[in-house]
Amino acid sequence: MTIEEIRMEDLDVPAFIEDQCRSISAEVGQGTAVNALSGGVDSSVTTMLAHRALGSRLLTFFIDHGLMREGEPETVVAAMQNLGVNVELVDARDEFFAALKGKIDPEEKRQAITDTFYKTVFGRLVKESGARFLLQGTIYTDVEETVAGIKRQHNILSQLGIDTEQAYGYKVIEPLIQLRKTGVRAVGKALGLPESVYNRPPFPGPALVTRVVGEATPERIALVRRATVVVEQELADVAAFQYMAILHEDRVTGVRNGKREYGRQIEIRCWDSQDAVIAAPTRLPWDILEKMAARITTEVEGVVSVTYNITTKPPSTIEAV
Ligand code: XMP
Repeated sequence: MTIEEIRMEDLDVPAFIEDQCRSISAEVGQGTAVNALSGGVDSSVTTMLAHRALGSRLLTFFIDHGLMREGEPETVVAAMQNLGVNVELVDARDEFFAALKGKIDPEEKRQAITDTFYKTVFGRLVKESGARFLLQGTIYTDVEETVAGIKRQHNILSQLGIDTEQAYGYKVIEPLIQLRKTGVRAVGKALGLPESVYNRPPFPGPALVTRVVGEATPERIALVRRATVVVEQELADVAAFQYMAILHEDRVTGVRNGKREYGRQIEIRCWDSQDAVIAAPTRLPWDILEKMAARITTEVEGVVSVTYNITTKPPSTIEAV
């Protein structure tokens, strides 16, 4: 299937919303559909579109895979509930950590997330609910990078030749597949999402796994989560596209309280970008960088080195994994 991109200058937002609602209704008919909400911009906009199209025939699930940021499952569910969308929180932490156990290769980690998400968890939810469709917020850029072989984005299925009906028992509907991030934000705004949602920095489906180099154990995820709290607090007022903390696998020698400490390394990345295809590091003020380093080395256990990425994409990518 060839997907035709809708460029920003060609996007008629009200017409797009109407068309997508009509086609979601036509496809689902009188049945039900399950919806994968992660709380990011793309999945929140998909949720609002599908809610408008299907009302109570849409069953929205937030999968708590244990890989989210601090307090995220509860915040996302509450924010959607405020907009009138009922969301069921599914605890799948054990299943995801079991699938990630022992995996260090980036693409194997991504594959483990995809399999657990679509086969194990959504396979079960679809079967239990009797639904035949899964709605999700895949966008044009996700397809492009996966098909080009750069990174296998967790949500790319049919574009890689996977027949989801055969493999998982349901059909996937992707109403945003022709848009890039700026288009998705415009649709989200028109659908009445709060600015804190439609303008939120992107966050990937595989979540903090993309920010842990090496094995993503519950302990290592917890460490990067604590560093993420610091980075997000300190960079909240910086007008950047996306920012993050990354936990490295290599250790380095540090010194704390006059004693040698063979400690962990956290890398901070902060990106200027339009749509994540190309990106440049934000020229952050030195005092913000220093404050983040001081906080991370005191608030995150065992960290003795904090670095700031100064590489562009390409050749870097936005996430480390
Ligand atoms: P990269 O790291 O490839 O990221 O430069 C480009 C943009 O995509 C996000 N990203 C993902 N989003 N599933 C997603 O939904 C994924 O598997 C995934 N991997 C990366 C990333 O955060 C950035 O905005």
